[in-house]
Amino acid sequence: MHVNPVTVDVIAIDGPSASGKGTVAQMVAERLGFHYLDSGAIYRAAAHAAQQAGLDLENAPALEQEIAAVAGAMELRFADGLILLANRDVGSQLRTEGCGREASKIAALPAVRAALLQRQRDFRQAPGLVADGRDMGSVVFPDAALKVFLTAGVEERARRRALQLAAAARPDDPKRLIGKENSGNIDALFAAVLDDLRARDERDSKRAVAPLAQLRDARLLDTSGLSIQQAVQQVLAWTREVQSGEAQSGNPQNGNPQNAISHGR
Ligand code: C5P
Repeated sequence: MHVNPVTVDVIAIDGPSASGKGTVAQMVAERLGFHYLDSGAIYRAAAHAAQQAGLDLENAPALEQEIAAVAGAMELRFADGLILLANRDVGSQLRTEGCGREASKIAALPAVRAALLQRQRDFRQAPGLVADGRDMGSVVFPDAALKVFLTAGVEERARRRALQLAAAARPDDPKRLIGKENSGNIDALFAAVLDDLRARDERDSKRAVAPLAQLRDARLLDTSGLSIQQAVQQVLAWTREVQSGEAQSGNPQNGNPQNAISHGR
């Protein structure tokens, strides 16, 4: 089915690693009945596909064209909560810290970003899309109806990610890994995650193409001290505000019909 992209609303949620934007974006999409784009998963899949093709990502800049070719050609599908690369479920491999690091290396290469652009835009389907990443509002969907920059302090993000990793390591009893007897473990985990996040923040915000930054037209949502539910409520409230702004003025946001949100629930 062909859908004219200018009629489909987008909520763009950008922010640094481990800010919680993925969880928030997914919940907002569910509440609105919109589609969801996890653009980070596409970069992770491209890094994974490049490694599987035998490309050494330590030399990523020297292999830019080869990595871009793999990224453009990879057969990637999101289906029923699974991420399928050439029909194999790679979800758990993509979620590792190592894969995030490799993704951020290839994401700094312009040819790779160009190769992945249309694939991301294809997610813009009726009735609407919530997209999360680093450049959703700046490059992929610059006409998004609502742009949010979702962040939290780096120590808070490291704490959350360390707890997540601890929970994944001990799904039956995550508290034990963070309990007194294991405080050494969690401290070491926290320190490693903090280093990693700082390096990734630096790489993502200093790169020449599509660097992570808060746009002038993006609303800042600092989730330090907020629960996920509170963050979701804030994005939904902004969505309603954009909708009612249209209703009152009779004009879509910024007077630009491409920005219309007309059917949130
Ligand atoms: O969001 P996530 O941590 O899964 O993304 C992995 C990496 O992919 C990020 O560190 C970033 O370098 C890159 N990325 C990007 N642009 C996006 C989404 C992710 O550069 N829109």
